[in-house]
Amino acid sequence: MTTPICDFIKKYISENPLRLHMPGHKGKDIFQNPVSAAYPYDITEIKGADSLFEASGIIAESEKNAASLFHTAETVYSAGGSTLCIQTMLDMVCGPGGRAVAVRNCHRAFVNAAALLDLDVTWVYPEYDGGSLLSGRVTAEMAEKAILSGEKPDCFYMTSPDYLGKIYDVRGIAEVCHRHGVPLIVDNAHGAHLAFLSENIHPIALGADMCCDSGHKMLPVLTGGAYLHIGNPKYVGMAKAAMSRYGSTSPSYLILQSLDMCNKYLSEGGIQAIRSAADKLECLKKELSAVYRIEDTEPMRMTVSPLSCGLYGHQLADILRESCIECEYADETHAVMLFSPVYGDEEAARLKSAMESVRMPRILLQSPEYEGYSPKKAMSIRQAAFAPSESISVDKADGRICSGVRTACPPGVAVIVSGEVIDKETIKILKRYSIFDINVVK
Ligand SMILES: Cc1ncc(COP(=O)(O)O)c(C=O)c1O
Repeated sequence: MTTPICDFIKKYISENPLRLHMPGHKGKDIFQNPVSAAYPYDITEIKGADSLFEASGIIAESEKNAASLFHTAETVYSAGGSTLCIQTMLDMVCGPGGRAVAVRNCHRAFVNAAALLDLDVTWVYPEYDGGSLLSGRVTAEMAEKAILSGEKPDCFYMTSPDYLGKIYDVRGIAEVCHRHGVPLIVDNAHGAHLAFLSENIHPIALGADMCCDSGHKMLPVLTGGAYLHIGNPKYVGMAKAAMSRYGSTSPSYLILQSLDMCNKYLSEGGIQAIRSAADKLECLKKELSAVYRIEDTEPMRMTVSPLSCGLYGHQLADILRESCIECEYADETHAVMLFSPVYGDEEAARLKSAMESVRMPRILLQSPEYEGYSPKKAMSIRQAAFAPSESISVDKADGRICSGVRTACPPGVAVIVSGEVIDKETIKILKRYSIFDINVVK
């Protein structure tokens, strides 16, 4: 597969030009640090380099390569992560003052976008299944009930996989959405690789109208590199204008090159590497499940619930850290580990040996119960987000209205959303996530 962005920049460097343009480092290695090697490749929108939000040259060509790999009607790059894609998608389907039905396992990027766009959001709370807060079951029937519960929404918004790696019924929910003429938007920030498994379970393949993937989370892409994928041809050609309303006018060419390179990687062995890494992790999960409770997740992630071994999730993560193994995320109930197509037998063996050598107290610990948690709304997300606010201790927040979204990131899931009333249950949960101060409306 071609790499038009990388080829252009390599040629530009080889000509040793006098760079009378941004960035100010002029491509020179002035710091002599490990990042220095990247400087020559960090360019701006010079002639021939195209422009992300008006792409018609090398960036457009590279995006077409990505679209053919992901089997989408259109794919647009983001150098501002999935966060920028989420703002863009909601702008496209809802617009200012629109209405969204959204599953409450959403990342705070959704809540912030809802504040910017003044969206009226109806929440669907996942059915608690004994796992973690706001990660549970959402059926097509639940989606349909929410869609029919008020005025027709401008979109149904869901996150799949969620932070723990749980995959939701995108196909079933897409079918319901389309029966009622409602576009389905999926936050697939954690699932770029799902398009390349032996069975394509990427949201676009399952019927989503649009979705975002953080390339940087699960593929070898630099941090900030993401894809906005469009499945429904009705939305083709609209994303660039919408994205330019929120994104920097100086998107990083380093990030764009990494997205460009990822196309080549995928088309030249990367897809096989993804499948092979998923197979290796599946074997490892089977072996470790004799000892640990391993959650049913998407294939590139191992989510361990060590409570039955007498350990909290963060304790397990601390023990693994002593063996120089760093988890993606850990809380009271879970430790989340992300595997990768660039990992293989050696890494699987290292993880296995560390997990098997953990000494467990074998005292049965209880999982906290989250059944029925659903804070009450007092004002709109936008009103509360932009209202004068003050930061107070969560211990004093009972009865106050949340102003800013309070979430630990990771996982970034919104425990309490702007405009909702904080109650005793919220306070307990916030503290559990080590959040001790909160912004409230004055
Ligand atoms: C579920 C989910 N959606 C969206 C985002 C935002 O993605 P990005 O960091 O690529 O902007 C995150 C980030 O962690 C996430 O976990």
